[in-house]
Amino acid sequence: MQDFEFYNPTKIIFGKDKVSELDHLIPKEAKVLILYGGGSVKKYGTLNKVIEALGGRTYLEFGGIEPNPKYETLMKAVEIVRHEKIDFLLAVGGGSVIDGTKFINLAAHFEGNSEDLLIYIDPVDSVTKALPIGTVLTLPATGSEMNRGAVISFKDGKYPVFSNLFFPQFSILDPTLTYSLPRTQVGNGIVDTFIHTVEQYVTYPSEAMFQDRAAEGILQTLIEIGPKTLENPTDYESRANFVWSATMALNGLIGSGVPQDWTTHAIGHEMTALYGIDHGKTLAILQPSIWTIRKKQKWDKLLQYADRVWHIKDMDEEATIDLAIYKTREFFESLGIKTRLSDYNLTKTHIEEILSNLEKHGQTALSETGDLTLEDSRRILENAL
Ligand code: NZQ
Ligand code: ZN
Repeated sequence: MQDFEFYNPTKIIFGKDKVSELDHLIPKEAKVLILYGGGSVKKYGTLNKVIEALGGRTYLEFGGIEPNPKYETLMKAVEIVRHEKIDFLLAVGGGSVIDGTKFINLAAHFEGNSEDLLIYIDPVDSVTKALPIGTVLTLPATGSEMNRGAVISFKDGKYPVFSNLFFPQFSILDPTLTYSLPRTQVGNGIVDTFIHTVEQYVTYPSEAMFQDRAAEGILQTLIEIGPKTLENPTDYESRANFVWSATMALNGLIGSGVPQDWTTHAIGHEMTALYGIDHGKTLAILQPSIWTIRKKQKWDKLLQYADRVWHIKDMDEEATIDLAIYKTREFFESLGIKTRLSDYNLTKTHIEEILSNLEKHGQTALSETGDLTLEDSRRILENAL
């Protein structure tokens, strides 16, 4: 096992009707800014529940944070935080709203040009204090409700930003608030959770036995409850297990002390930035292809994945790995998520654009060892056509 530090201060309040807990979680005298997306929280009643739980507290609203939140939109909220003397940020939504809220908080407390915060290093040194953030999660997928990451769209790129100031103080996870999700978003969320898990697991062996078993537990849970929660969205138990799996897949736990390979996300972000394809769908296109091209580098862990997650036995090693890759693709497709570039009308010409943006954004040494070149990315994308 590699050395590591593990830190996660986010309090989780899990269960039905837990929005009312806001009254105990936010100081009575706080001036609250409620942040949300394009309107689903209004349509399905979550915003009303939140406002009711806030009781007599003073609050303002900032709606319109779009999927893949845009820098320009978020900067409008920064003005409100500064001028209205807000002292608590309450994000109500999915990963985009939560990520947006994290960035708004950082930018509101940064004295320089906020564009400088869109960098691939931890900006925590430049901002030392920020407001507390609480979240009410409506879409299980990103793990943003319990982690220190945010992904912000700016011009033709998506920029991952990390800071310890991003950890929400608390997150309310009420699975019933996710019942209204369209099928395609449930599929996206299951795939995103699956990919977060394998990016911290299908690398090379590192004798991290607990982390491996925990990752395998998440993957097996998703395989078991994924189709159920898609077909029967209001089945509480399968939805609850999906929500908790999504949170646990990217809160630092399974990633501690192990090598990590974020190639899928790096290439996927360029595809979302260029063509607006949902985050989860870009990952479903790329992962089977990445494993096919990187079979040799990931051989031992792919064998372990095939054995422990898919229970593939008694075949020669390469056939075992190929079958595990096939089953993974089949699982994503069974969730209604297409896995080929051509399914999204992308061709060889688009591959050139993706590669050019990877280069422009410095994504030329990817993988768990940094040996994945632009040429490898080309092979991966061509294999995904
Ligand atoms: O905007 P509204 O109207 O609320 O609708 C949203 C949005 O259109 C809708 N939705 C959310 N909850 C709903 C609902 N519709 C009905 N009922 C509900 N309960 O779903 C749509 C997608 O929402 P979004 O927040 O964009 O999805 P997701 O949670 O998948 O977040 C994606 C963003 O998170 C980033 C991605 O890059 C992308 O920008 N990520 C953040 C990470 C992190 N912070 O650690 C890691 C991830 O890998 C990911 O990169
Ligand atoms: Zn993701």
